[in-house]
Amino acid sequence: MESKVGRNWYKELAVYQIWPRSFCDGNGDGIGDLEGVLSKLDYIKSLNVDAIWFSPLYCSPNADYGYDISDYRNISPDYGDIKIFKKVLDEAHKRGLKVIMDLVLNHTSDEHDWFKKSMESKESPYHDYYFWRKGKGKNPPNNWKSCFEGGAWEYNEKLDEYYLHVFAKKQPDLNMDNPKVRQEVKGIMKYWLDMGVDGFREDVITYISKREGLPNGFPLPVGCGMEHYTNGPHLHEYLSEFKHDVLDNYDCFTVGEAPRMTPEKALKFIEEGPNQDLNLMFHFQHMEADSFMTDWIHMPFSLKKLKKAFTAWQKKLYGRAWNSLYIENHDHPRIIDRFGSLKYRVASGKMLAVMYICQSGTPFIYQGQEIGMTNIKINDLNKYKDVITFNNYKIFKKLGVSDKKFLEITNRATRENARTPMQWSDKPGAGFTTGEPWFYINPNYKQINVEAAEKDPDSLLNFYRRLLKIRKENPIIIYGNYDEHYKNSTSLYVYERNYEGKRLLVVCSFTEKPVNFKAPQGFYLGEGKLLLSNYKDVGITNNGFVTKPYETRVYLFE
Ligand code: GLC
Repeated sequence: MESKVGRNWYKELAVYQIWPRSFCDGNGDGIGDLEGVLSKLDYIKSLNVDAIWFSPLYCSPNADYGYDISDYRNISPDYGDIKIFKKVLDEAHKRGLKVIMDLVLNHTSDEHDWFKKSMESKESPYHDYYFWRKGKGKNPPNNWKSCFEGGAWEYNEKLDEYYLHVFAKKQPDLNMDNPKVRQEVKGIMKYWLDMGVDGFREDVITYISKREGLPNGFPLPVGCGMEHYTNGPHLHEYLSEFKHDVLDNYDCFTVGEAPRMTPEKALKFIEEGPNQDLNLMFHFQHMEADSFMTDWIHMPFSLKKLKKAFTAWQKKLYGRAWNSLYIENHDHPRIIDRFGSLKYRVASGKMLAVMYICQSGTPFIYQGQEIGMTNIKINDLNKYKDVITFNNYKIFKKLGVSDKKFLEITNRATRENARTPMQWSDKPGAGFTTGEPWFYINPNYKQINVEAAEKDPDSLLNFYRRLLKIRKENPIIIYGNYDEHYKNSTSLYVYERNYEGKRLLVVCSFTEKPVNFKAPQGFYLGEGKLLLSNYKDVGITNNGFVTKPYETRVYLFE
């Protein structure tokens, strides 16, 4: 099928995600900041990406490291101020890099002025900015459980009411049904767009509309009630209000985070045409190839599950909507530990890069992914810092899990694995800071760091650069359609792309064992141009080859 949707600049971007606290510390206080970012803009540009997504830079008490915002119109003093932000924006633009901001609209911090005022009295004009409700007898208003911290309701004695927090206690949910709240949201969007930012990543945006009456949810220990606020009744209406009243007036783009999203449901929000609300969506389905619902419930990695998820999104969106592509971000452990191999870190890192970046969509690359950073092994629970880790400790304890076992699980499952400081060099502080780092630095920084990778032409870093350049030079990688081969293989992921008479064949092995690969019907490898591979020896026998550990090859047929 030929695509009915047109070309567009946001489809051709590759985006680099910065989690600012751990990216680069410019002032030696151990915390990443905008001075640090400024000093790395040339590095970012050198990756052949075209945009930066900043995880929240706003003022925040950091109960959820920036995802609890206390002032939407200011930069956290940890990171700098508006002046330096404008400088970063300007310098990024000078280099042809777009900048998108993370926008957290489902909740604020409990230290936000709106919330403080909402708590003053029931008559306060801000009271209805949040979900304040009477309890039911001695119980909270309903049985919802927070995704992060026990029950979803917190009692306030003075008001004799509870407020809703779907995430941590310090993240009260905004009542988007209140038109004044939507007005505030639009004001915030305008503020940043007028400053020159190029769009937004909208945090858990599919949670912003709660079902009327807040009915009880299906009893689950974590996240109970989510069926009443995921893709809620007014979601489409509110998103389209933001779009028509604000976003349409700017040349910007949006990507919404959407837990438990399927391609069928996503089309309602991202199908191109008059009803489109968002340009892109982050779904989680491929991230469940080795887990169930959350990274904390581990399952053996299943390549079939991974392929099924990617293929469904590729096929169902093709010609109708646009995919976002990612394998890492600040919410998941590092990907090589999960879908690749630590033994073949570089080879499997390259294969994973090809596997997702050669699909149709806008690729996102998370800081450190490009040098193959890996998970940490902390042997002291007290060194962990994340609200999810703390909460899961309580849950696992109740289930009788020992501290030793919990540590083992945490080492594998916590998103903190992705939040260790960026490894720039083998110098003390990993080149991230000259001070005392705010969080544990992975001791493998001595081997795995940007400086070392720069010197090695075969490094993962230089492979990412080549891959992203090749993507730009070959519109087939961006706009071609997608078809899968070897569907039932548990070790190979093979797909083809087609565009304007050209064909691309992508072969990825997910095992260290040799596998006999034979080109699918109609492909003659000898006639193809090898665009990329992760081994030097790229011989062909009988129109195929025996794969080396985690081998990948990309052939173009013109
Ligand atoms: C999103 C963010 C995550 C945050 C949560 C609550 O999932 O990516 O980091 O903790 O929303 O805001």
